[in-house]
Amino acid sequence: MESKVGRNWYKELAVYQIWPRSFCDGNGDGIGDLEGVLSKLDYIKSLNVDAIWFSPLYCSPNADYGYDISDYRNISPDYGDIKIFKKVLDEAHKRGLKVIMDLVLNHTSDEHDWFKKSMESKESPYHDYYFWRKGKGKNPPNNWKSCFEGGAWEYNEKLDEYYLHVFAKKQPDLNMDNPKVRQEVKGIMKYWLDMGVDGFREDVITYISKREGLPNGFPLPVGCGMEHYTNGPHLHEYLSEFKHDVLDNYDCFTVGEAPRMTPEKALKFIEEGPNQDLNLMFHFQHMEADSFMTDWIHMPFSLKKLKKAFTAWQKKLYGRAWNSLYIENHDHPRIIDRFGSLKYRVASGKMLAVMYICQSGTPFIYQGQEIGMTNIKINDLNKYKDVITFNNYKIFKKLGVSDKKFLEITNRATRENARTPMQWSDKPGAGFTTGEPWFYINPNYKQINVEAAEKDPDSLLNFYRRLLKIRKENPIIIYGNYDEHYKNSTSLYVYERNYEGKRLLVVCSFTEKPVNFKAPQGFYLGEGKLLLSNYKDVGITNNGFVTKPYETRVYLFE
Ligand code: NOJ
Repeated sequence: MESKVGRNWYKELAVYQIWPRSFCDGNGDGIGDLEGVLSKLDYIKSLNVDAIWFSPLYCSPNADYGYDISDYRNISPDYGDIKIFKKVLDEAHKRGLKVIMDLVLNHTSDEHDWFKKSMESKESPYHDYYFWRKGKGKNPPNNWKSCFEGGAWEYNEKLDEYYLHVFAKKQPDLNMDNPKVRQEVKGIMKYWLDMGVDGFREDVITYISKREGLPNGFPLPVGCGMEHYTNGPHLHEYLSEFKHDVLDNYDCFTVGEAPRMTPEKALKFIEEGPNQDLNLMFHFQHMEADSFMTDWIHMPFSLKKLKKAFTAWQKKLYGRAWNSLYIENHDHPRIIDRFGSLKYRVASGKMLAVMYICQSGTPFIYQGQEIGMTNIKINDLNKYKDVITFNNYKIFKKLGVSDKKFLEITNRATRENARTPMQWSDKPGAGFTTGEPWFYINPNYKQINVEAAEKDPDSLLNFYRRLLKIRKENPIIIYGNYDEHYKNSTSLYVYERNYEGKRLLVVCSFTEKPVNFKAPQGFYLGEGKLLLSNYKDVGITNNGFVTKPYETRVYLFE
């Protein structure tokens, strides 16, 4: 099928995600900051990316490291101030890099002024900014569970009411049904867009509309109530209000985070045309290739599951909407530990990069992914810092899991694996800080760091640079259609792309074992141009080859 959707700048971008606390510390206090970012803009540009997405930089008490905002119009003093932010924005723009802010609209911090005022009295004009409700007898207003911490309601004695928090207690949910709240949201969007930012990543945006009456949820131990606030009744209405009243007046783009999203449902929000609310959506389906619903419920990695998820999104959106592509961010353990191999860290890192970046969509690359950073193995539970880790400790304890076992699970599953400081060099502090780092630095920084990768032409870092350059030079990688081959293979992921008479064949091996690869019908490898591979020896025998560990090859047929 030919695509009916047009070309657009945001489709051609590759985006680099910065989780500011761990990116680069410019003032030696052990915490990443905007001075640090400023010093690395040339590095970011050198990756051949075109945009930066900042995880929240706003003022926050850090109950959820920035995803609990106490002031939407200011920069956290940990990271700097508005002046340095403007400088970063300006310098990024000078280098041709767009800047996208994270916007958390489902909830604020309980230290936000709105929330403080909302609990002053029931008559406060801010009371209805949040979901304050009477309990049912001695029980909370309904049976919903928080995604982060026990029940979803917290009692306030003075008001004799409970407030709703779908995430941590310190993250009260905003009542988006209140037009004043929506007005505030639009004001915040305008504020940053007027300053010059190029768009937003909208945090759990599909949770912002709750079902009227907040009815009880299906009694599940985890996620109870979700059916009443995921893709809620007024979601489309509110998103389109933001779009028409604000976003449409700027040349900007949006990507919405959407847990439990399917391509069919996503089309309601991102299908191009008059009803489109968002440009892109982050879904989670491919991230469940080795887990069930959450990274904490581990399953053996299934390549078939991975391929099925990617293929569904590629095929169902093609010609109608645009995909976002990612394999890492600040919410998941490192990808090489999951879908790749520590033994073949560089080879498998390259293969994984090709696997997702050669698909149709806007790729996102998370800090450290480009040098193949890996999970940490902390041997002391007290060193962990994340609210989810703490909460899961309580849940696993109740299930009778020992501390030793829990540590093992945490080492594999916690998102803190992706939050260790960026490894810039083999110097003390990994080149991240000259001070005491706020969090554990992975001891492998001595081997795995940017400085070392810069010196090695075959490093993962230099491979990312080549891959992103090749993507820019070949519109087939951005705009071509997608078809999968050998769907049932449990070791190979093979797909083709087609665009304006050209064809691209992408071969990815997910195993260290040799696999006999035969080109699919109609492809003659000898006639193709090898655009990229992760091994030097790229011989062809009988229109195929026997794969080396985690081998990848990309052929172009013109
Ligand atoms: C999704 C964000 O990516 C995550 O880091 C955060 O904890 C939750 N939303 C709550 O804001």
